[in-house]
Amino acid sequence: MSPRTNARPFDVVLFGATGFTGGLTAEYLAARLPSEAKLALAGRNPAKLEAVRGRLLRSNPQLEDLALLQADSSDRQSLSRVAESARVVITTVGPYLEHGEPLVAACAAAGTDYVDLTGEPEFVDRMYAEHHATAERTGARIVHACGFDSIPHDLGALFTVQQLPPGAPVTLRGVVRTNAAISGGTLHSGLGQLSRPRAMVRAASARRRLEPRPRGRRVRTRLGLPGRDRVLGTWLIPLPTIDPEVVRRSALARPDYGPDFAYSHYAGVRRVATVAGAVAGFAAALAAVQVPPLRRAIGRRLPQGEGPAAERRERAWFTVDFVGESGGQTVHTQVRGGDPGYTETAKMLAESALCLAFDDNPPTAGQVTTATAMGENLLRRLRDAGIAFTVITTTAAPHDGR
Ligand SMILES: NC(=O)c1ccc[n+]([C@@H]2O[C@H](COP(=O)([O-])OP(=O)(O)OC[C@H]3O[C@@H](n4cnc5c(N)ncnc54)[C@H](OP(=O)(O)O)[C@@H]3O)[C@@H](O)[C@H]2O)c1
Repeated sequence: MSPRTNARPFDVVLFGATGFTGGLTAEYLAARLPSEAKLALAGRNPAKLEAVRGRLLRSNPQLEDLALLQADSSDRQSLSRVAESARVVITTVGPYLEHGEPLVAACAAAGTDYVDLTGEPEFVDRMYAEHHATAERTGARIVHACGFDSIPHDLGALFTVQQLPPGAPVTLRGVVRTNAAISGGTLHSGLGQLSRPRAMVRAASARRRLEPRPRGRRVRTRLGLPGRDRVLGTWLIPLPTIDPEVVRRSALARPDYGPDFAYSHYAGVRRVATVAGAVAGFAAALAAVQVPPLRRAIGRRLPQGEGPAAERRERAWFTVDFVGESGGQTVHTQVRGGDPGYTETAKMLAESALCLAFDDNPPTAGQVTTATAMGENLLRRLRDAGIAFTVITTTAAPHDGR
C-alpha cells in the first residue's frame, strides 16, 4: 500500500454505482473484493444508492457496513470529499467531457489514484494539459480508459511486444472483432465526442506540444488503409478510436517497446461488402451528429441508464488479434473475452482499481496508461479473471506486409 494514502477510510470508492456500467462494476467488486478491503459507493441520488446497496447485500451479506457517499459532478466540494476519503476512486459518471473534469481535478490535488471508462480522446488530452503536472507532484496515478477502451489493446500490445526479440524495431497492428451491443451512456458519450471534431484536434495538438519525447527512440501510430489481412484472413477497416493513442503513450513511456515502434489499429470483418458499408455508415453518422436535432434524435433511441440485457450480454464476445514483427520474427497473439462493453468492462475497471490499491506496481504518477501504471500485474489479474491473452503462432520469417 502507498504510505501516502493508506490511512484513508476507504481503499476504493465507486462513483456512478447507480448507472448501467457502474451497477455491474459494483456487483463485480461485491463478489471479488478482498475481505480486508474497504469499499464505498458514491452518487448524486441517495435513494438510488441505497437500492444498489440493497442489491449487493443480497449477494454478499458481509457488505452490511458498505458506506454511501453523496456527491454530484457539479459540486466540486463533494468531489474533494470523495477524493480525500479514498486511496483509489473509480468513476463511471459519463459522458466524461460533460461530467469528468472536476473529479480528475479533485483526485490530482488529493494524491488519489483514479480510474475511468472514457473513450473520449478530447477529454483525456484536456486532462493531461490541465492536471497531469499536479498529479505528478502529488503522486496521483490518473488512469483513463480502463474498460474495453483501451485495456485489451493496451495490454494486448504489451503482451505481444513481450513475445518478440528485444531491442529491435517493432511493427504492430491490432484488429478488433465483436458482436456486442452498446448502452445509452456509451451512445451519448460517443455522440458528444463525434460532434466536436475540431475541439478534439485542438486538444490533441495542445497535448503533443506539452508531451516530452523519448530520446533516441521513435514511437508512431499509423492510420492504415482498408484491405485484406493475409495473416488473419479478415478484411481491415482503419479504426480511429482512442485505442491507438493509448498504445502510443505506453510505447513512449516503456523503453521495452523498442527503438522504433509503429502501431496501426483496425476493425476486422469477414466480408468485403461490410468494409464499404462500414466506411459509408461511419461517414453518414459523422455528418449526422454535426446537426443538433439529428444528434438528439439518435440519442433518444437509447436513453442513458439503459444497456444490453443479461441474455444479450451472455451471447456477446470480442477478440483483438495482434500481428507483430520484429528482428525477423512474426508473432500472432489474441486477447479474447465475453461481452466487451459491460460484463468485461466492469471486470477490467474493477481489477484496475484493485491492482492500483493492492499490487506492487512500478513507481509512476500523473496521467499514465494501464500498461505503464500496472502492466504485468493487471495482465495477470485479467487472465485470472477469465480474459485470455494467448500466442496463436510464432514464425521465424518476416511476413511481407499484410
Ligand atoms: N470505453 C468503454 O469501454 C466503456 C464501456 C462502458 C461504458 N463506458 C462509458 O462509461 C460511461 C457510463 O456509461 P453507462 O452506460 O454506465 O451510463 P449511465 O447508465 O447513463 O450511467 C451514468 C451514471 O452517471 C451518473 N451521473 C450522471 N450525472 C451525474 C452528476 N451530475 N453527478 C453524479 N453522477 C451523475 C448517473 O447517476 P444517476 O443514476 O443518479 O442518474 C449514473 O450513475 C459512459 O461515458 C460510457 O461511454 C465506456
